[in-house]
Amino acid sequence: MSTRQTNCSEKLSHKRPAKVDRFWIGATYYPEHWDEKTRAKDPELMVDAGFNIVRMAEFAWTMMEPQEGNFDFSFFDSEIERLGRHGIRTMLCTPTAAPPVWLTRMHPEMLRVNENGVRMSHGSRQHACPSNPLFRAFSKKISSAMAEHFSGNSNVVGWQTDNEFNCHFNECHCEACQNAFRDFLRAKYAGDIAELNRRWGNVFWSLSYSDFAEIETPHQMKPAYVNPSHQLDYYRFINHSITAFQHDQVEILRRAGGKKWFITHNGCFNHIDYRGDFSKDLDFLGYDVYPMFNNRPDWRASSQAFALDMTRALAGNFMVPEHQSGPGGQPPYFHNNPLPGEARAMTWKSISRGVDSLLYFRWRTCRFGAEEYWCGIIDHDNVPRRRFKEISSVGNEIKKLGSKILGTSVSIDCAVAGGDMEAQDADSTYLLGLPTIFQAGANVHSVLLKRKFAVGAVHPEDDLSGLKLYFIPHWSFFKKEWVKKLESFVENGGTLVIGARSGSRDENNHVVADLLPGCLKELAGVSVVEYGKLNPDSGVRLELDFGGSSATAEHWYEALELEKGSRPYAVWRGLRHLDGQCAISLRNLGKGKVFYVGTYFTYNFADLFLPGISSEAGLEPVLGGIPEPIEVTVRKDSKRKLYFIVNNINEDCVLPSAPAGTDLLTGKKIAEGQSLKLEPFGCALVESTAS
Ligand code: GAL
Ligand code: ZN
Repeated sequence: MSTRQTNCSEKLSHKRPAKVDRFWIGATYYPEHWDEKTRAKDPELMVDAGFNIVRMAEFAWTMMEPQEGNFDFSFFDSEIERLGRHGIRTMLCTPTAAPPVWLTRMHPEMLRVNENGVRMSHGSRQHACPSNPLFRAFSKKISSAMAEHFSGNSNVVGWQTDNEFNCHFNECHCEACQNAFRDFLRAKYAGDIAELNRRWGNVFWSLSYSDFAEIETPHQMKPAYVNPSHQLDYYRFINHSITAFQHDQVEILRRAGGKKWFITHNGCFNHIDYRGDFSKDLDFLGYDVYPMFNNRPDWRASSQAFALDMTRALAGNFMVPEHQSGPGGQPPYFHNNPLPGEARAMTWKSISRGVDSLLYFRWRTCRFGAEEYWCGIIDHDNVPRRRFKEISSVGNEIKKLGSKILGTSVSIDCAVAGGDMEAQDADSTYLLGLPTIFQAGANVHSVLLKRKFAVGAVHPEDDLSGLKLYFIPHWSFFKKEWVKKLESFVENGGTLVIGARSGSRDENNHVVADLLPGCLKELAGVSVVEYGKLNPDSGVRLELDFGGSSATAEHWYEALELEKGSRPYAVWRGLRHLDGQCAISLRNLGKGKVFYVGTYFTYNFADLFLPGISSEAGLEPVLGGIPEPIEVTVRKDSKRKLYFIVNNINEDCVLPSAPAGTDLLTGKKIAEGQSLKLEPFGCALVESTAS
């Protein structure tokens, strides 16, 4: 990789605002899919919808470079100009997710190879390998040609690199990857193969190598299980390769556009460290929001909230380059249709949890290709109907209020740990049939959300100030250097809850030599003297006895020995040798508390356990008396609070006691404690100057 020149010197933090100079609102636009007559009225309609931006040229490499080195940007020049005349700016994309057939025929070796050794072919997208030096060279050529061509165009305001790296395909086992993986390992282990053997534990199953040249990417179709250390380094390599590929493009765009362009990317997918160099290269991160992938209306709201919070944990406030506007469909599925008002509600929810600019996917539904049923704002027949009306209403609201939202950050006082690629990847290499840390985090998050606390997600090395309660849900991979931060968080009055199995794996993805929870043992004030899995067919039923109430453990148990003045908060019942042993411990430290929980955070367990913990932590709901279907989120700056109030259901719902202020959506004044009636999927945005 070339020497890194990160654009952003600030630390990536959940509190970081996105560096946008206005609230961009618009749609992804593929004018090349439509004839002139069909798209003739698009600019006027976009203005009616309150839009100020479109995203273009995302998959149009073949149009812009029909033969090698033969560039033609005339179509996009005139589209950018046509929209620009109506005040609609353009964000362009490097088109490298869709390499042309002339390129892959010329160099078939740049096509990706899947884990079964099958080489991809032309016919879809994401088929070329970012580790392939030739593909990188062609990516640089098209990026440079675009950057130079559009650098004088004042209607072009920003860029998206590629499209959703790792969305369809996040592993590649081609020849270029074999070489690049070996180079990555040579650099990581300073050319010392003995060191690699030691850190991978290659004495096991006689796996030791005598030269880096012997190492291959870990194919899943090996006869038996792959070494988890090898697997984790491979995931780190994937991140390294994508980050380098993107960095080429970012360097080119910065050189041509200086500071006048923003640069982002639309995530978030596996094996990319969005808290690392990948996002430090960008002005802000992008995240594509498609809540309708969750077919269950009763879970959709909380899964959307969790996904948004996990994104903010990576790099702060962000842009949404693609936001659901209608049902999506591809050959195997078709989403539920968002009900009237639902797309608007999803939009306000996204903004409430850290979105600082947003584009809908897509302007008009396409009639051909692999996404014929991915419904956009306008239907196949080009007649604006319900979706257009609804998106226009929220589009114009955002147009009016965007400037009041920018500069505020999401206010939270409790959080689950999130945002660490290595923790997630290490977890995935050795799941033991347990829920992932993502699922466990989602359980805790949704219970806190349901109880109307101001919940978010924060990385353990990030700024924890302002939090009263912080959860580490079973992060088996845990770095020693994160512990200090947690210790001062507790000493200053925070309540920390550490879930079972945390701290059990080190940076080599080996099990630690210590008793669990490894590097968290001191802080937790416990040692795990026995652990075991609660397989559903084992017939074992273990209860956590809280002395008055109890909860059934699922998936996992740990018996805890108390140290450092810790005391039992719950004990085990149900197995002879465990009866009475500590299941949950509590340690007072400084002004705060540490709980260690020797079982898994299922939704049911979290639901039982959290009321007690949240009152121990001194948490208060965002507002009193919020009914179940209503979600209230606060964004604030030093002077104002913005209460985003969203009704998540298809029925009227009343908030009995609203905050005092002005509902910016209606302009109506609201007195302290006044009730607020919300229509189905209705929203209010109350600006309050109260502290
Ligand atoms: C996104 C992708 C878009 C489009 C959309 C609908 O993941 O970035 O290009 O495919 O999904 O499927
Ligand atoms: Zn490859």
